[in-house]
Amino acid sequence: MNILVIGGAGYIGSHVTREFLDGGQRVTVFDNLSSGLRENLFPDASFVYGDILDYTGLQRVMRQAATSGNGGFDALVHLAAFKAAGESMIMPEKYSVNNISGTVNILNAAVENGVKYVVFSSSAAVFGEPRYLPIDENHPTNPENYYGFTKLEIERFLGWYEKLKGIRFASLRYFNAAGYDVKGRIKGKELKPANLIPIIMEAAAGIRSEVQVFGNDYDTPDGTCIRDYIHVSDLAVAHVKALDYISANGKSLTVNLGSESGTSVFEVIETARTITGKPIPVTIAGRRAGDAARLTASAAYARDVMGWKARYSDLETLIGTSWDIYKEMRA
Ligand code: WQD
Repeated sequence: MNILVIGGAGYIGSHVTREFLDGGQRVTVFDNLSSGLRENLFPDASFVYGDILDYTGLQRVMRQAATSGNGGFDALVHLAAFKAAGESMIMPEKYSVNNISGTVNILNAAVENGVKYVVFSSSAAVFGEPRYLPIDENHPTNPENYYGFTKLEIERFLGWYEKLKGIRFASLRYFNAAGYDVKGRIKGKELKPANLIPIIMEAAAGIRSEVQVFGNDYDTPDGTCIRDYIHVSDLAVAHVKALDYISANGKSLTVNLGSESGTSVFEVIETARTITGKPIPVTIAGRRAGDAARLTASAAYARDVMGWKARYSDLETLIGTSWDIYKEMRA
């Protein structure tokens, strides 16, 4: 297939691009490099610098593919969203413009240029505070941050464009993405990370003095929040399988992607100390607004419909592959 990966220079996008390339697909990366990195680009993928807010630019890349003799893009993968849940509560406008308007541009350009399949990076943030665990696809959606709201709205757009315009989509609800390419081919470190594991890595590498633990008084065995960390290489494989599924079956798919195991903040830090051999100083800070005590996924549906299962999402691999990248970092 001929695939356009929008946001393909980013942390998850680069892993997804690598996986499609490894599977023999033709890939064009479209990215404005706002958080994507040039070092995440591959020589065997084309690269087009562009912004999803520029409809003309999106049109151009899709039309050029259609007139180049390759038959145009069969599919696009959309990973071009802002993703900091905390920031989205302070600057919702930014998330409305980029995540919502940008997606409308993508979908309109896709429809106009005959792109049939859309794989979308959704999020466990669509669920909000869990009513039961593990969270399956039938769990009610009730986002508690604006970021999660934008992801849920986009899922609804996708549903309407399916009905009205015949696209087929896969909406992949990631839990906590972490880790780095198990083969060590992707080395771009996220700028100003807000997530736990890269923050721990920066502390281990000595470029951050400590890790603040947001609350140790939750109703969990060690008092810290429990999350479902899923390796980015596992996520990348899921994109390939999801596209295979929707193209082979002509049916859309909304699916949770997690490892099905819950790990506390303290457990992550302890394992990181062991793997890195670094002390990783910790301070206990107050709870962060909007944090649920526990979030874990059911991956039963992903297993049933597309034969997907996490392979690399044990804590040692998550942290080991991250440390392989961060240990090179200098203060
Ligand atoms: C993990 C745990 C923090 C930083 C986010 C998004 C969500 C989804 C996944 C994309 C929590 C604690 C963190 C720190 C800490 N993303 N923590 N000190 O919030 O579970 O989920 O990523 O769709 O939408 O919100 O991930 O990595 O920020 O936090 O103690 O410096 O680590 O409180 O319990 P989160 P996270």
